[in-house]
Amino acid sequence: MRLIVEDGYNRGAEIVLGEPTVVLGRGADCAVQLLDESVSRHHAELTRGDDGVSVRDLGSRNGTRVNGVPVETAAVEAGDRIALGDVRLLLLPAPVTPGEDEPSQSIAARPTAGVDLSETVPVANAGTIRGGHPGPQPGEILGESTAMKALLTRIGRAAPTPATILIQGESGTGKELVARAIHGLSPRRRGPFVVVNCAALPTELVESELFGHEKGAFTGALARKAGLVEAAHHGTLFLDELGELAPPAQAKLLRFLESGEVQRLGATRPMVIDARLVAATHRNLERLVTEGSFRADLLHRVRVVELFVPPLRDRGDDIPLLAEAFLRQLAGERRRFSRAALSAIKTYRWPGNVRELRNAVEAAVILAKEDRIDVTDLPPRVVGGDAGGGGDALRGGTAGDDGPLSLEDAERRAIIAALRFCDGHRTRTAKVLGIDRKTLYSKLKALGIDE
Ligand SMILES: Nc1ncnc2c1ncn2[C@@H]1O[C@H](COP(=O)(O)OP(=O)(O)OP(=O)(O)O)[C@@H](O)[C@H]1O
Ligand SMILES: [Mg+2]
Repeated sequence: MRLIVEDGYNRGAEIVLGEPTVVLGRGADCAVQLLDESVSRHHAELTRGDDGVSVRDLGSRNGTRVNGVPVETAAVEAGDRIALGDVRLLLLPAPVTPGEDEPSQSIAARPTAGVDLSETVPVANAGTIRGGHPGPQPGEILGESTAMKALLTRIGRAAPTPATILIQGESGTGKELVARAIHGLSPRRRGPFVVVNCAALPTELVESELFGHEKGAFTGALARKAGLVEAAHHGTLFLDELGELAPPAQAKLLRFLESGEVQRLGATRPMVIDARLVAATHRNLERLVTEGSFRADLLHRVRVVELFVPPLRDRGDDIPLLAEAFLRQLAGERRRFSRAALSAIKTYRWPGNVRELRNAVEAAVILAKEDRIDVTDLPPRVVGGDAGGGGDALRGGTAGDDGPLSLEDAERRAIIAALRFCDGHRTRTAKVLGIDRKTLYSKLKALGIDE
């Protein structure tokens, strides 16, 4: 294993990990010395064991994060980003130089200024290291809002444990991303991550899909079949839309959670399966229990740890951050949002949450003619206008669930909707709005629409 220091004092340094355990920190006695103020004297420890490499925080002041999630201890592997305080390290596989053995000793961070890292780092994102600003990792949970930070902390604490986890949140908030992060930070990360969408399983097949069947167990069971729970042996079973699981399967799932045993349909004996359950739902399971469609005992057994992924509208600070990150991911550094586009993005309520935001950015990237992405490139609903003409602002100056708008926001929305209606044509826009062109220009400037 190797580490590349991505930022901070030792930026660009490459560290080869030889010994089974290495301590990283600011202290001179550390195998890997990182001279950065945000790093504690003995900050964290990397250990190579039989089932891979793990990182452990040594009670540092600023904490250790793996792919953005604060952790006390976590399994890591090549491609992961480990942050000690402000210093980010990228974990890579050991260099494969035939004939040469891996160095038997840890080497302290040695600056490799002037060395073309793209030659020594054979991974897809090597370029981002040289650019200075490492882009978000695929699968990285982005978010700086207080709510997201709290969620990340809970994820970091629960992930390495065997606890069953229930993830709740509206559609598109990132529940599956959270489930994958949990698997990735657990000692099971090298095992399978099996995703089962309970809502997509046909009722008559739920049980055989989940628990498998023997040959001839029912008409149509022509061969024996392993179930999805079995497929998650030594890994994580992610049951998405758990609220939709049919009652007979709920009973079997409960039995599995209590005994670790599953029995294929038609089998004479159960087998013991070692799979960790992570479930997600956008439904209120307690209400389903009251209504009688979900078992209370299963609910209690599943929500050993409960995680709530907040809707995007409740973490306002994350909206521009996510929008910019998606733009960078989808279109590179050159494209950017106009001030007005960003302000429309911030104002919209995003009922489809992060998924809707990502799709909107993707559409805008496709539609924008220039590097600058303007309001007119965003989906009409985002700027408060629908394609046909006139938006909420034009209809009555309110924005649906948002409650009353400030006069400035109402004006901004009205102007944006009119601009869209007139395809960006300024003279026509002024006419539609009933103002003269000069007034339109000064309003565009004052409201930041025409930067
Ligand atoms: N915090 C985040 N940072 C980066 N990307 C995110 C974040 N949250 C969600 N996404 C992205 O948004 C999309 C939707 O996320 P995901 O599929 O995890 O949502 P979900 O809650 O499972 O939705 P549903 O309930 O509809 O299944 C994905 O492309 C995911 O990568
Ligand atoms: Mg999902």
